[in-house]
Amino acid sequence: MCGIVGYVGDKEAAPVLIKGLKRLEYRGYDSAGIAVLGRAGLEIRKSKGALKKLEERIAGELGEGALDGSMGIGHTRWATHGEPSDINSHPHTDVSGKIAVVHNGIIENHAKLKSRLIEHGADFRSETDTEVIAHLINFYYEGDILQAVIRAMKRLEGSYALGIICGNNPDRIIAVRKESPLVVGTGKGENLIASDVPALLEYTRDVYYLDDREIAVLYRDRIEFYNEEGERRLKESHHIKWDAAAAEKSGYEHFMIKEIHEQPKALRDTLRARIKTGDTNINLEEIGFDASWAKMERVIIAACGTAWHAGVIGKYAFEKFARVHTEAEIASEYRYRNPIFNPKDIFLIISQSGETADTLAAMRLAKKGGARIIAITNVVGSTLAREADLVMYTLAGPEIAVASTKAFTTQLMCIYLISLQLGRLRETIGDTELTDHIEALKRLPEQAERILSEKENIQRFASLQFNKSKVFYMGRLFDYAASLESALKLKEISYTHSEAFAAGELKHGPIALVDDTTLVTALCTQPALFDKMGSNIKEVKARFAATAVITYEDVDYFDKTADQVFRIPRTLDSLSPILTVIPCQLYAYYCSVLRGLDPDKPRNLAKSVTVE
Ligand code: G6P
Repeated sequence: MCGIVGYVGDKEAAPVLIKGLKRLEYRGYDSAGIAVLGRAGLEIRKSKGALKKLEERIAGELGEGALDGSMGIGHTRWATHGEPSDINSHPHTDVSGKIAVVHNGIIENHAKLKSRLIEHGADFRSETDTEVIAHLINFYYEGDILQAVIRAMKRLEGSYALGIICGNNPDRIIAVRKESPLVVGTGKGENLIASDVPALLEYTRDVYYLDDREIAVLYRDRIEFYNEEGERRLKESHHIKWDAAAAEKSGYEHFMIKEIHEQPKALRDTLRARIKTGDTNINLEEIGFDASWAKMERVIIAACGTAWHAGVIGKYAFEKFARVHTEAEIASEYRYRNPIFNPKDIFLIISQSGETADTLAAMRLAKKGGARIIAITNVVGSTLAREADLVMYTLAGPEIAVASTKAFTTQLMCIYLISLQLGRLRETIGDTELTDHIEALKRLPEQAERILSEKENIQRFASLQFNKSKVFYMGRLFDYAASLESALKLKEISYTHSEAFAAGELKHGPIALVDDTTLVTALCTQPALFDKMGSNIKEVKARFAATAVITYEDVDYFDKTADQVFRIPRTLDSLSPILTVIPCQLYAYYCSVLRGLDPDKPRNLAKSVTVE
């Protein structure tokens, strides 16, 4: 959701900015723009639509004397205030045209600021909240852009990551963030900013993560950091270990299918970091998960989207293994619900990006209420990682496709490890049961590989079904939770009307929608409930729905009932979502491609929702 880049160095800035924006395309956007500061002063080019349009617009100008500076900022915009248009695209400038700003976030008091600034002569051109920032900085500008930004920050309410350049201070970029992501990269003779690390990797692997309200001033040869009072701060850089290829398609047609295929490795990496080869102990002491956590009385999980689905599975897992009361909460609901806290709550926050606005707000609320916070996230240095009491990273590598796949299954891996370990500490799980689960976890990466090796079966099925107007997923217990994620995947990237429901709810409503245009896929990995699932499948068949079942390879129970049976390797019932979701991810992917869509960039969706 909105991407920011900035460059100061020896290279021509415009191509560097465009390249960086391309790396951020996955975040979702509807227009793009750049500002370059060079011999011709501050030059801005922006365009509604795909980045390609902007690229074509400036291609003819490069080398012709235009846009020839070695410093600039760029932006991909995901419209919040004002429709997608050239005018509303960033960068935005002040009246004098000397200050240019790119922004990710929302300025909540923009209307009030706007009318005050108009009284002082500002002339607004766009409908955006961002434009007030440029005018406000200009209002405070007395020759030093840093001081003007510091004064403007005190007036801004809401969230922001900003890249700012000023024609009167042509050697520096000002970067600042509050509740929106921004990373600073430091290279040799060049420094950069970006919303996310992949945009920096071609130039450097050494990055600084800005804290909230912290300011970076980037020159060609150095970076200075300040707090909001303008006092210098020292910061440590972090070295990014994963290589740039991890953020490339590596021969796959789309990031999504590449990331689906990366799941066996991602699962293995996430597991091996906590259970050494040949060992049967889960080692979470290193991340601070010690015996003190056993005294906690309740687990509250909060997250959004796919991560919330992982949380629903987490609810079942914590209750089963650790016998602790657990709730899985939608973060955007939780934050406004006046919830009841208890200092003996474990608050488990799950977020791939670690930057989702609602998720962060829920965490801060719980922290205020005295809960102990555990974060499961994929992004080192993210806001979530920095603010939680304890962090467990999913070692999935960068996830670029908007629809989350490997982040989800690795989130589940983390949930199983924490819930099993909590069960061990609380003595609610026996040694044999624990060892059985650990052994079963270790088999999952290879089992995921086997499912992927049979992906053609799913592709064939998708080629027959991709035009179905309604697709329902149903299951019970862990299968219900996995159904939620399967339905989300399909609707996100194929725009098929797709829902999930607990199979027991079929007769309480959903069956009214079932007809011969419907496909119902039943996830059936809970043997104690096979009879019940069998009846549910018969009920939808009797209403002329096409039916598919996903079950274990040694189960023939559904062969005569369902039109199509997909088989996955046998695992323990509570771990099955890691496997059942893979055929569903593949099905969603193939349907999207068969419908002629781009699964990596679904309409209206953003990878990281950093505003409410
Ligand atoms: C967006 C993404 C989803 C993701 C959700 C939560 O909606 O499109 O894929 O599940 O945000 O994101 P998070 O980074 O907090 O896991």
